[in-house]
Amino acid sequence: MNIRLKALAAAVVLTAACAVNVGSIRADEAQATDNKTVQDAAKELGLTFTDGRYKNKDGDPAPAVSKDYKVDWATWQGFRRYHDACHVCHGPNALGSTFAPSLADSLKTMDYATFYGIVVGGQQRDAGGTKYIMPAFGEDKNVMCYLDDIYTYIKARSLNSEGKGGMPAGRPAGREDISEETKKAALECNP
Ligand code: HEC
Repeated sequence: MNIRLKALAAAVVLTAACAVNVGSIRADEAQATDNKTVQDAAKELGLTFTDGRYKNKDGDPAPAVSKDYKVDWATWQGFRRYHDACHVCHGPNALGSTFAPSLADSLKTMDYATFYGIVVGGQQRDAGGTKYIMPAFGEDKNVMCYLDDIYTYIKARSLNSEGKGGMPAGRPAGREDISEETKKAALECNP
């Protein structure tokens, strides 16, 4: 298992220190778009586009990543949102930190519903006086409106660490445009 939070105090200090660096990632820089490459990749992966995002056969959100690492809108949006909301604790590229687990590893076995439940409700553990605290984000629109995107991005990282395609560390090489359906849903959730 991963190295976890040593103490809540340490997390608070680190969170404050790391927050300064998030801006320098410039995750929202303009990105070259390439719809056809991504759509061909989705077809090859057997994904369907429903309710404004790609899904697998189980109906769970799934990343569409081309061989040259161009990604669907959700994976791209998830990359940005992950770096806003999760990176301070779970580390760059979803690979973990000294006090929070690598989510790329977690998603090798954790299913979508479990992931969703933990982010909504949080998770706490006390190991012999050492506290491991995952905050609850259920009331935070900036996370909840994009949680499927964040899941999709972490899944792309997870597949990559398993050698099953996905997305390598760093920025995607390009992305698909946002669809009208996706734009509408995002605006309705977070006007
Ligand atoms: C303040 C630090 C912090 C932030 C911010 C944070 N997490 Fe966590 N997270 C943790 C810690 C610590 C754990 C381990 C909790 C435990 O041991 O029970 C954890 C655990 C998890 C787990 C369970 C992993 C497993 O293998 O058991 C998931 C899923 C998760 N976080 C997702 C997220 C997502 C998604 C975000 C961004 C929206 C996020 N976290 C933001 C600290 C954080």
